[in-house]
Amino acid sequence: MATDPLFDISGKVALVTGGTSGIGLMIARGFVRRGVKTYIASRDQARSDEFAAQLSELGECYGLAADLGDEGGPAALAATFAEREGALDILVNNAGANARGSIEEMMIDAWNMVMRVNLGAVFFLTQQLLPQIKAAASAESPARIINLGSIGGLHIPNWEAHPYGASKAAVHHLTRSLAKRFGPEHIRVNAIAPGPFHSRLTDTTSEAVKKSVATYIPAGRPGTEEDIEGLSVFLASRAGAFVNGSTIALDGGYIAAL
Ligand SMILES: NC(=O)c1ccc[n+]([C@@H]2O[C@H](COP(=O)([O-])OP(=O)(O)OC[C@H]3O[C@@H](n4cnc5c(N)ncnc54)[C@H](OP(=O)(O)O)[C@@H]3O)[C@@H](O)[C@H]2O)c1
Repeated sequence: MATDPLFDISGKVALVTGGTSGIGLMIARGFVRRGVKTYIASRDQARSDEFAAQLSELGECYGLAADLGDEGGPAALAATFAEREGALDILVNNAGANARGSIEEMMIDAWNMVMRVNLGAVFFLTQQLLPQIKAAASAESPARIINLGSIGGLHIPNWEAHPYGASKAAVHHLTRSLAKRFGPEHIRVNAIAPGPFHSRLTDTTSEAVKKSVATYIPAGRPGTEEDIEGLSVFLASRAGAFVNGSTIALDGGYIAAL
């Protein structure tokens, strides 16, 4: 069956941070197999190359590396990307980190790491890639920035995850402020706030997550690759071109039912 033009993203160029694991890898795979030239980034060049080689069996994929928790990480990643491409249609700010623990135990290094990776990198990588994003943007085909927030930024869980929740709520807010700033320049900025998806951060096979899913998710299951793929393809395609500044909960009804 021919691709529906509304959802056709072939020929675009994407960069997915944290594209070597969990949700980022699912998004990258969905892009690559739809004909998007996709760059995936992690802290480890060998790991990025390994996953890029796997995804290259489906299409075009390349590995990049930078530590987005380092002050110079976003600029270094943007510079490496700019050596290869003059335009970026889709930026997925997905790399994320967590630091659980009570307020009494929280160390400033853990707080700073979460804020840098989850929030600072979203802002500064976007800043550093603006020339390439603007080069791809047009009224007919706006460029897209998709930020990974979390339901942890929409509600207060039953455990202490203060920096994580605060960083994700800030990502949702930043998504709105960037959408306002860049709307006139044909760049759409949206956030996805996932519920539980299987990844290094979230073990959906653990008893704790299974119990949480059964208790709180009306749909009665964790998210799957098709769920995140479907929404990210929608947001990257013509179909999603009028969605701007939204944070979309992808959670089987978790937040709606609270
Ligand atoms: N899975 C869930 O249930 C869930 C729910 C809500 C929100 N989210 C959000 O979704 C996003 C993806 O999470 P995930 O669960 O898929 O996580 P994951 O499996 O742990 O993957 C995280 C990815 O980010 C990269 N990364 C981590 N720290 C980095 C750093 N300092 N610099 C550069 N890259 C870094 C990792 O690569 P390296 O470690 O190799 O560098 C990896 O590719 C995150 O923003 C997370 O907060 C996830």
